Amino acid sequence: MESLKDILVLAITLILTGTVPLVSGKTLANVLAAHNNTLSILNNFLAGQEELFAELATARDITVLAPSNKALNKLENNDAVMNAMASEPGMVAAFLKYHVFQGVWYTSNFTTAPSGGPSIVTTLMNDTAFTNVTGGQRVAGLPLPDNEGITFVSGNGNKAAVQKGDYNFTGGTIHIIDDVLTIPANISDTLINANLTAAQGAFSRSGLVDSINSESEITIFAPSNAGFNAVGAVVSGLDAAELASLMGYHVLKGKVLYTAMMGNQTETTSEGNEIHIRMEAGKIFVNSAMIVKSNLFANNGVVHICDNVLNPSNENASPDPAAATQQPAFSGASPTNSVPFTYGVPTPTPTSSAVVTATVTAVGGGGYGGGAPATAAAPGRTTCTMFSSLGLLVSLTLAVQLVGSSLF
Ligand SMILES: *[C@@H]1O[C@H](CO)[C@@H](O)[C@H](O)[C@H]1NC(C)=O
Ligand SMILES: *[C@@H]1O[C@H](CO)[C@@H](O)[C@H](O)[C@H]1NC(C)=O
Ligand SMILES: *[C@@H]1O[C@H](CO)[C@@H](O)[C@H](O)[C@H]1NC(C)=O
Ligand SMILES: *[C@@H]1O[C@H](CO)[C@@H](O)[C@H](O)[C@H]1NC(C)=O
Ligand SMILES: *[C@@H]1O[C@H](CO)[C@@H](O)[C@H](O)[C@H]1NC(C)=O
Ligand SMILES: *[C@@H]1O[C@H](CO)[C@@H](O)[C@H](O)[C@H]1NC(C)=O
Ligand SMILES: *[C@@H]1O[C@H](CO)[C@@H](O)[C@H](O)[C@H]1NC(C)=O
Ligand SMILES: *[C@@H]1O[C@H](CO)[C@@H](O)[C@H](O)[C@H]1NC(C)=O
Repeated sequence: MESLKDILVLAITLILTGTVPLVSGKTLANVLAAHNNTLSILNNFLAGQEELFAELATARDITVLAPSNKALNKLENNDAVMNAMASEPGMVAAFLKYHVFQGVWYTSNFTTAPSGGPSIVTTLMNDTAFTNVTGGQRVAGLPLPDNEGITFVSGNGNKAAVQKGDYNFTGGTIHIIDDVLTIPANISDTLINANLTAAQGAFSRSGLVDSINSESEITIFAPSNAGFNAVGAVVSGLDAAELASLMGYHVLKGKVLYTAMMGNQTETTSEGNEIHIRMEAGKIFVNSAMIVKSNLFANNGVVHICDNVLNPSNENASPDPAAATQQPAFSGASPTNSVPFTYGVPTPTPTSSAVVTATVTAVGGGGYGGGAPATAAAPGRTTCTMFSSLGLLVSLTLAVQLVGSSLF
């Protein structure tokens, strides 16, 4: 294996120094270098990584989002993110893997999904220190109206637009993006950052907050604060057990249901009763509530915001699809003066939505990251293992360079 590596390194070095004709002008490294005017920071991270180039040259069926200089400058100026990455090197690796999609997704592939929502793409980021969704953490991709290009949506609903796309290389395609993607936070932080403070407060008071944050594969239908306020008089007096039933009716366990997977369907909630999902008139309803914002990615699942609180005793509540907003599903509903359950819940700060967050414990021993020294790309790892995993090698190499660079 070592000799194969040496051969690859030699070959790539020769290619890069022009001593032999290009085997292919379309390696990832070459295509990135050809766009050095917008990608010089990224290219500087990659410079000198012959092993990485060799591995990338053989990679197939991936889509690389290459953050532009503008994107990486913004990241460097974000102290919260930089500090988080400095203190947790595994996060850099996860962050970079979040920028590589499984499969070749040209910009033309991002059309509106049959359900009316974005395409949901699976990334190489699957490190359980940062994500607990099967297969890898997701990114949403959608075309903007009027052919204004493609936007990717990541954690906290943060958006990154494609500056230039469809630069093909032997293993797939590259899109240059104007902002970095945000690693999804846990469900509580995702709720708070979306100003769903009543939902977070209600989960907290119901005793469900730990389970929804720690179990893998969770879907949350989170009523907006306005939705909670509309039924304030009915729900604010509930005791913890009653609130647990109510809030459990907003949770699916063992299933991450992105909108792209939805049709007219029935699901059993963690409370035990069923919800009915209905797609009509370009809208998605859960019982009679309308989903007003969808696919907020969380580290262990997904959150959809709906305009009303769901009522487990009113499973058959049905919407008026023609109406802009839906009626509360509780009879005798009336609002309270202030939004229930919000007392003591942090409100979103202007910067919090930009922060990459994750609940992490250091990845030890066999993991990557872990404060590796700045020079060796693969300290203590067998070449075989390293070469078997593109994502790992990319991120480790970049992580090591980032951590070793003056950025920190
Ligand atoms: C990209 O440009 C920078 C200067 O902005 C230069 O230092 C670097 O060598 C260039 N990298 C490539 C791959 O051309
Ligand atoms: C992208 O579109 C092409 C052409 O329609 C199709 O063959 C390919 O499977 C699509 N790729 C993905 C990832 O959906
Ligand atoms: C992450 O993906 C890699 C490459 O596909 C795979 O080898 C590894 O087992 C995955 N890890 C988890 C936790 O799913
Ligand atoms: C994912 O699940 C594992 C095992 O339960 C846990 O140790 C880890 O902290 C979880 N990761 C996240 C990001 O919640
Ligand atoms: C990359 O390949 C796709 C699919 O074949 C094609 O549509 C696109 O035009 C190519 N991009 C460039 C810049 O040639
Ligand atoms: C959050 O919701 C409250 C109502 O509960 C509203 O007063 C406030 O303006 C919202 N904040 C943001 C940042 O949207
Ligand atoms: C879902 O059901 C509604 C009401 O029965 C119907 O109008 C609509 O066409 C169905 N949508 C899909 C995608 O099947
Ligand atoms: C969610 O993540 C934040 C940031 O890592 C952490 O401070 C908080 O304790 C986590 N919340 C829960 C309920 O796990």
